Amino acid sequence: MTRERPVLRFRHPVEHDHLATVRLLEAWWEPKQARATLQRHWFRHFAATCWLAETADGRTAALVVGFVSQERPEAARLHLVAVDPNLRRAGVGRELVARFAASAQERGAQRLEAVVWAGDRSAIDFLRAVGFVPIEPEGGSRIYGTPAFADYDHDADDMAVLTLDVEGPGPIGG
Ligand SMILES: CC(C)(COP(=O)(O)OP(=O)(O)OC[C@H]1O[C@@H](n2cnc3c(N)ncnc32)[C@H](O)[C@@H]1OP(=O)(O)O)[C@@H](O)C(=O)NCCC(=O)NCCS
Repeated sequence: MTRERPVLRFRHPVEHDHLATVRLLEAWWEPKQARATLQRHWFRHFAATCWLAETADGRTAALVVGFVSQERPEAARLHLVAVDPNLRRAGVGRELVARFAASAQERGAQRLEAVVWAGDRSAIDFLRAVGFVPIEPEGGSRIYGTPAFADYDHDADDMAVLTLDVEGPGPIGG
């Protein structure tokens, strides 16, 4: 069931936001994974396609991180969406993906891509719910029930690659 949506203010991050944001992410997530996922360069070099959501008292409640590809400018890579565990299931993640999509679209992207571990059921369910569709690997391979690519990032790093077209009005807004 969808919770009542908190009042949030959205802004692009600046480099100075990095340390406080990664500390929050460490509290929301496994700390080592948080540090490996959100390095400083994201806010230094990709801030225009990243967003922070803040509560009325200025606390960071959620973030989305991603970039428009240099090699494939029609594609934008969604790197991370994370929401304060106390504020989940209220549409905040969906709103952040929509904001990322709009920022990427402004820069010419027509498609979002996300890559997640094939066994991460909640991430895959969330991405599907906001409109992403997994790419079917040749041979139709499934890992943990999801179309996924074996050894995608490293041995046994089996990943699902999901895409969402953002050319027209899509299902993100729910
Ligand atoms: C995944 C995450 C970003 C979702 O954020 P959220 O604000 O709770 O998401 P929303 O409320 O916008 O959810 C939109 C829809 O996604 C689906 N969804 C969200 N979280 C889900 C979960 N844990 N399991 C299954 N479906 C989920 C639901 O269909 C939901 O709609 P509903 O609440 O009306 O049923 C949040 O749980 C999170 O920070 N997880 C840890 C980081 C992560 O896994 N990020 C995703 C991959 S980068």
